Amino acid sequence: MRRKFVLGNWKLNGSLQENERLFNALVTRLKSLRAADFAVCVPFTYLFQAQALLSSTNIAWGAQNASQFESGAYTSSISAKMIAEFDSKFVIIGHSERRTLSNESNQKAARRFARVVNAHLTPIYCVGETLEELEAGISANVVKNQILAITHGLDDDIFASAKKVNMVIAYEPVWAIGNGQAATSNQAQAMHLFIRNLIAKVDPGFAKTIRIIYGGSMTPANAFGLLSMPDVDGGLIGRCALSANEFSQICDIANQLSLCAESV
Ligand code: PGA
Repeated sequence: MRRKFVLGNWKLNGSLQENERLFNALVTRLKSLRAADFAVCVPFTYLFQAQALLSSTNIAWGAQNASQFESGAYTSSISAKMIAEFDSKFVIIGHSERRTLSNESNQKAARRFARVVNAHLTPIYCVGETLEELEAGISANVVKNQILAITHGLDDDIFASAKKVNMVIAYEPVWAIGNGQAATSNQAQAMHLFIRNLIAKVDPGFAKTIRIIYGGSMTPANAFGLLSMPDVDGGLIGRCALSANEFSQICDIANQLSLCAESV
């Protein structure tokens, strides 16, 4: 059974004071939820605060990107090893906002992915098509190439290590991010199954256990429909992750669904 996983992506938001309130509210609201897994990916500057306030709770934390380099003359870069020093567990890789803002290729995202895995952190590898690609009918091909960059574009030992750290894939259709227009449950399910089948071609056993989460305008109102789908194993939440109330409602739904699955 795959436990549901809800991950908040805070993006470029927060302040020491606001974060403290949000962390504390989440700790209180999520503490009794034991059937699903929860985490928040915060700006680098708040990893220390996340470590201070979330240690010994059921909420893990991590970052939103990591350098493709390990160290050296790369002004402003932050390495996966540095992120790991704050007891982080997760790093989002290849988010569409990174791909667009810094013109990031699949190959570059794959190199970042490798650094994260080598630092024994869990990559949340984001894939998804743009509106133009959706309208051109090439969504499956775009997502396939994004997946191939990590399954075939890296040394075998990296993919083997990625399995050990339980890599996660996030399907985030770019046309659904941040605008209130989530994919339908059926659209999400179809793409998640497609992704699982791609992984199965490389490793059928791993395809059964890998978590494939959905991101793009997930809210308390649509979370049940999306998370009930057999191949949707959780959510990557942007806007609603900034509200303790909305984020914890989504976590609650994920927890209930995991509880139901446990009892089958
Ligand atoms: P959203 O963001 O929930 O605000 O659509 C999701 C994401 O970008 O990860």
